[in-house]
Amino acid sequence: MEFKKRSAFINGEWVESAVQFEVTNPFSSQVISTVSDCNSEHATLAINAAAEAFKEWSKFSAGKRSRILKKWYQLQLEHSKTLAKILTTEQGKPFAEALGEVKYGASFVEWFAEEAKRVYGDTIPGHRSDLRITVIKQPLGVVAAITPWNFPSAMITRKIAPALAAGCTIVLKPSELTPLSAIALVELAELAGFPPGVINLIPSSQPALIGEVFTSHPAVKKISFTGSTRVGKILMKQSADQLKKLSLELGGNAPFIVFADANVEEAIEGCMASKFRNVGQTCISTNRIFVHEQVHDAFVSGLKEKISQLKLGDGLERGTDIGPMINEAAVSKLDRLLLDAKQKGAMIETDSKTDQGLMRNPALVCDVNSTMDIFSEEIFGPVAAVYKFKEEQEVIALANKTSYGLASYFYGRDYAQIWRVAEALEFGMVGINTGNISSAVAPFGGVKESGFGREGSKYGMDDYLNIKYMCWAGINS
Ligand code: SIN
Repeated sequence: MEFKKRSAFINGEWVESAVQFEVTNPFSSQVISTVSDCNSEHATLAINAAAEAFKEWSKFSAGKRSRILKKWYQLQLEHSKTLAKILTTEQGKPFAEALGEVKYGASFVEWFAEEAKRVYGDTIPGHRSDLRITVIKQPLGVVAAITPWNFPSAMITRKIAPALAAGCTIVLKPSELTPLSAIALVELAELAGFPPGVINLIPSSQPALIGEVFTSHPAVKKISFTGSTRVGKILMKQSADQLKKLSLELGGNAPFIVFADANVEEAIEGCMASKFRNVGQTCISTNRIFVHEQVHDAFVSGLKEKISQLKLGDGLERGTDIGPMINEAAVSKLDRLLLDAKQKGAMIETDSKTDQGLMRNPALVCDVNSTMDIFSEEIFGPVAAVYKFKEEQEVIALANKTSYGLASYFYGRDYAQIWRVAEALEFGMVGINTGNISSAVAPFGGVKESGFGREGSKYGMDDYLNIKYMCWAGINS
């Protein structure tokens, strides 16, 4: 399959728009494609098509929806290498990581194809002897999904697979930086046999405009967004008038704590995995590394050694560990955070500067403290910032000293401490002796200003279902 489409997909038709926007490879800075640039009319057409298709799709048996989703899953696996190549070319991450993402993304489709068959209701003893109460779950209706550039494939399947499994229909607006993976996924969805209007795709370089249509159109019953906290708040304000349901997966500021009794080697491995995945451009990336003073020096020297082995380059070249950052704005932010830390007394063990476009070396910074911008801002880049601590209470307070609450990690061996710390961390996800917490079977999501809603797992389906209760009277025994 060649994946040649470059347009919108509305009501089962590929729709060219009058205007196009460019897609660039962040490694070479070359334009690799142009894509139809949808406007508010396209968005409205897509929503109307999804609303019409909902009437039929929501009435399909769960088994029928499940079989189409399974087919889509199989097609994604069959074409995984091509999908990964498309992903690397438009996003920059190393091919092996891109392939991992495509398979991770497909695993949500497989999981929710199964879950489609398990949307169970309930019976509740009535509050009078002649009453019976039953509870059913029903699909919400049209779901608008807005997905980011850092995981151009998996963030799409993670949203739309549960929605489709539940019986909802979709209008998808992928990131304008990475629309090609989205288009390829929709080409496969067409092949899998979703009826027209069930999945609609509107690439657009005008996210604010499309967001306004999504939040104001009465047929859109839910918006699922992954992206910045700033944009999440705008969508929430705009959705208030119609009280639309929202799932918001927003920014993070993950602490990574290494206690004195931790296995330092394993902690270094976990830190490398969670810090440098996707060049650090991951919402659940380790952002602040707190190391107990007793193991601080051993941890830092081991981490430095591992960092020195990372190879920068073109994601399509074998052996590349670190690809380019996504754009100039991301690079400037990283440089600003490092400069601020340096000026406030941090020790730059290895620097990030290169003279290669959007490439940044993985950097290690020590003696960091909470007055520095790098403590409170999401780095979203390849900088490991290390803090030293002495006491459990001190490090818990520091870890929680952030408006974000997405992922957190810690390494230790004392089971009582593990329970205490896991319960005290104000985050939606806690990795204990692991830096890899992502899975279709687990509920991904945050608290505080990292948003709300859960993606993946049995809980992920609930975000796309309404609960209806029926009170049956007059049942006299
Ligand atoms: C994200 O950055 O939000 C996604 C990371 C993941 O699913 O592992």
